Amino acid sequence: MLYEEIVDEMMQRIERGLLKPGNKLPSIRNLSQDFACSKNTVIKAYVELEKRHIIYSVPQSGYYVIEGYRGREKLEETQVDIDFLSAGPDRQAMPYRDFQHCINQAIERYKEEMFTYSDVQGLYSLRVQLARHLQGLQVFTVPDRIYVVSGSQQALHLLVSLPFPNGKRNICLEQPTHAGFIESIRQHGREAYGIEVGKKGIDLKQLEELFKHHDIKLFYMVSRFHNPTGYSHTNEERRRIVELAQQYDVYILEDDYMGDLDSNAKADPMFVYDPSGRVIYVKSFSKVMLPGLRLGLAVLPDELREAFLRAKFAADVHTPMLTQGALEIYLQSGMFKAHIDRMRQLYSKKAVLLQQAYKTWLPAAVTYSGSLSGFYSTIELPLPLKAKQLADYLKQQRVWVDHAERMYIPEFSKDNVIRLSISQVEEALIEEGVQIIARGITELLSRRTEVRFVSKGQG
Ligand SMILES: Cc1ncc(COP(=O)(O)O)c(C=O)c1O
Repeated sequence: MLYEEIVDEMMQRIERGLLKPGNKLPSIRNLSQDFACSKNTVIKAYVELEKRHIIYSVPQSGYYVIEGYRGREKLEETQVDIDFLSAGPDRQAMPYRDFQHCINQAIERYKEEMFTYSDVQGLYSLRVQLARHLQGLQVFTVPDRIYVVSGSQQALHLLVSLPFPNGKRNICLEQPTHAGFIESIRQHGREAYGIEVGKKGIDLKQLEELFKHHDIKLFYMVSRFHNPTGYSHTNEERRRIVELAQQYDVYILEDDYMGDLDSNAKADPMFVYDPSGRVIYVKSFSKVMLPGLRLGLAVLPDELREAFLRAKFAADVHTPMLTQGALEIYLQSGMFKAHIDRMRQLYSKKAVLLQQAYKTWLPAAVTYSGSLSGFYSTIELPLPLKAKQLADYLKQQRVWVDHAERMYIPEFSKDNVIRLSISQVEEALIEEGVQIIARGITELLSRRTEVRFVSKGQG
């Protein structure tokens, strides 16, 4: 087929060094003349090269050779790593070129304002855009209640230690949970009460006991695509948890870090069930966009306004203006929406492949979690297998997984859980990765059995 000839020709040019990383490929028109074919054939070839991560496109400019492509033979020689460990967004899908354009636009629009001290709460015009964006997530609020933070982690960290209107002190959190939040509790020397989040969510009776007896100031919850299990609470669970919080005067700290990836339009954040301020809604732009920007937001009750602004000022005065200005344009122009539509498809396709692979390949003694979207899930290993031991073993097979120990507080500690993130793994490698993990589990378990047998035999 003609388009394959074009693919082959371009790869040869790259391998022979005629096209180097960063070089622009011939224009579609020129190449269609050279090959005496239609422009569509050339486009098909370029799209194919893009899919293979050999070239990338820059809108209104053309196609370019990526950095780091070493040619076919070298690729075949080097076995590829399968990275279920890295937790950032898919690197190939990071919209940094579009964002570069927004940064330039922000400087044009706001000039020196992007480079002076500014509002601690965040650029007002950005907060207007954020309020609009939040409506799409069913979070109806006003710019005055939105606080721009330097990554959602900053909001979590500041809120752990702030005095709350309920006058209470302790923190309740799901187990396991986002390790950064546990670290914040540790840093502030706060007492934490855990509640297990399993395949069926959390036990509400147990939650009620905690709320009743332990002076709980706030309950930290990742309401959808939970880190690390991937669990999403149902609307009914969310509503009942908010009711309990109202009954026992507890605040909910709702971490909706991946909410944009939810394609279920009927799924409500917890905020919906009490928009008065009882539910503090926190959102991140990291997992869904560009983590290096360090941009997030919190929707706070008025009673926390002063204390929060003082804490934010003490932490870093305000979040950098240039990224705030660029985010405003990114949201306003519709680029964010277009990006999220792509990300939803990308990650849900990968998540489905992962769940299928789990079902097909994991040994029966293993339990696993996860959903058909988002990017985290966990595998619980049969005892006595340890997560760290499996992770070390898999490293030698060039498969990278994370063990989840740091996602537990000491009373809930588990050392037999691994976390997998599908964000960095190409679709085509997901099944192979799970096969290698499954083989690793079987192999390590059989070694254990042999050791026990030998030591018994030796008396
Ligand atoms: C559940 C959860 N919340 C919040 C964060 C922090 O995100 P940000 O980069 O916005 O600080 C993370 C990062 O891993 C996370 O997993």
